[in-house]
Amino acid sequence: MKSKLGVNIDHVATLRNARGENHPSLLEAAKEVIKKGADSITIHVREDQRHVKKNDAFILKKKINKPINLEMAPTRDMANFAIKLLPKYVCIVPEKRQEITTEGGLKLSKKNLKPIIKNLQKNKIQVSLFINPNIKDIKMSNKLGVNAVEIHTGSFAKALKNNNKKKIISEFNKIKRCRLECNNTSMKFNLGHGLDYQSAKYLKKIKNINEYNIGHFIIGESLFHSFSEVIKKFKGIIN
Ligand code: PXP
Repeated sequence: MKSKLGVNIDHVATLRNARGENHPSLLEAAKEVIKKGADSITIHVREDQRHVKKNDAFILKKKINKPINLEMAPTRDMANFAIKLLPKYVCIVPEKRQEITTEGGLKLSKKNLKPIIKNLQKNKIQVSLFINPNIKDIKMSNKLGVNAVEIHTGSFAKALKNNNKKKIISEFNKIKRCRLECNNTSMKFNLGHGLDYQSAKYLKKIKNINEYNIGHFIIGESLFHSFSEVIKKFKGIIN
């Protein structure tokens, strides 16, 4: 199975917003990463729209020719927005106002999530849940009837950066067990958060990864090397 690369371009919006004008352009960045091989464009439209704005999302939807993966909080307002936008994918993520980035996976609650998931799927949007690497959450996601799960790889990636050998192995094994558990379901298996060349390469030992979602490292590394070089290198690693 060929793994896909989803590129999260939130950080381009952060840089653009620093000056309140339209440079660097989110649309041009999306077009560029697609030209260089990204399989989809991920944007997290936060409720406070602190980086990507709702209007950016509508422009991207209209002008780019690859699927959009919209990350959003599980609220009725965001679901209504997603139904207006109609991206191919929605990844439901937890959101806290004060966090710098998505700190962990969702706390899965049937009561809260089920109506949102159903509503999105009724509108032909494929839904994934951003979850921590544990079997209980894989089983619960399957019960909730989502199309995919995205495993939060932050703890694994951090362990690898800190060269914490014990933690590297335990976090890696958690992700691997989740992949195996997913074999009993029809859900696709995606990975994301904190990934760089080294962690993506390590995780490649796990077979049947549908998509790697990578943002911060790709945008940061492209300051020193081109999008072209960085995306090409990632595509080489994941396949
Ligand atoms: N996947 C999800 C669900 C996320 O929330 C994020 C961060 O916005 C990412 C992937 C990308 O993480 P990073 O920017 O650390 O590569």
